[in-house]
Amino acid sequence: MYQKNMLIFSVETSCDETSVCIMKEDKTILSHIVYSQEIHKKYGGVVPELASRAHLEILQNITKKSLKESGIKLNKIDLFCATCGPGLIGGLLIGSTFTKSLAIGNNKPFVPINHLEAHLLSPFYNNKISFPHISLLLTGGHTQIYFLSNINQIKLIGESVDDAAGEAFDKVAKILGLQYPGGKEIEIRAINGYEKKFILPKPMIDKNNFNFSFSGLKTSVNLITKKNNLNDTFVNDMAASFQKTISDIICIKIKKIVKKLLQDNINISSLSVVGGVANNKKINDELLNALRNYNISLLKPPKFMLTDNAAMIAWTCISKYSTIKGDINFKPNPRLTI
Ligand code: KG4
Ligand code: ZN
Repeated sequence: MYQKNMLIFSVETSCDETSVCIMKEDKTILSHIVYSQEIHKKYGGVVPELASRAHLEILQNITKKSLKESGIKLNKIDLFCATCGPGLIGGLLIGSTFTKSLAIGNNKPFVPINHLEAHLLSPFYNNKISFPHISLLLTGGHTQIYFLSNINQIKLIGESVDDAAGEAFDKVAKILGLQYPGGKEIEIRAINGYEKKFILPKPMIDKNNFNFSFSGLKTSVNLITKKNNLNDTFVNDMAASFQKTISDIICIKIKKIVKKLLQDNINISSLSVVGGVANNKKINDELLNALRNYNISLLKPPKFMLTDNAAMIAWTCISKYSTIKGDINFKPNPRLTI
């Protein structure tokens, strides 16, 4: 199926972003549209059924729009790809079925893409990364740490045993009466808050592994909030204290990993942070500080590849899968792993 200067059409629908991208094999983006569904705001979280219906409606419109703005005819696309998991099954089915039909209609291959792998490969778009490499994946559904020997050998070395970091941000925002998605809202409120105001728990930091637990942190915020007035000062202080605590937990675990690698004589020169939560400035600043002493640089994807997007799906297809056969029969899997 390989030919030079291929044109890739990609689709992302695993949660509440509906996104399409047309990318050239040399990674030039001809069109990239990300539509963040607004409908979930009033429910304080993603409603899967509504997300599926919205994907169905939006996908056809943004596909037409992206073909128009790129000036590309559908029959000129060489390869079609879509997120096939993990994620919400309704969205995955809609995105993959839609994309498979385009592939069949145009007699071109369909390539299934793993959403987590796409987040992990996103910093390779704008950085030269040497191996071995550590990647910290912080999304709404996952908090995981991977050891990359190369892009085909990716090993999970730690993860959250309960809530993901993004989920914790979203749930705490809801407790504090802030809008969904909560990460950005907490970050804004934290600017005017006092981060030492509340001492919150840091579960599992003394455990001799690289796993996380965030659900106790959320429960603690809930208990304190119930005993207080939800005024601006309280919300700002709690947002700042929560954000500081979650940054501390992440940095403590990352330092543990770096120390273990040094003990084992494994040298890494960089660590990447990916996923929606990687937008958070406090987490970035604390990670930079934590890594500085070890001479390890912190890498990130371009900003448009942090939150869910179809560009990282096309990029993953180009980086890893453009030379292998497509798989039109691949069944979307909500629990797909790497
Ligand atoms: O990677 P992503 O777009 O979707 C998943 O794959 O889950 O991540 C979404 C998550 C949400 O939980 C959102 O609240 C969080 O990323 N997020 C943030 C920030 N911006 C988005 N969390 C903390 N600070 C932010 N600035
Ligand atoms: Zn994601």
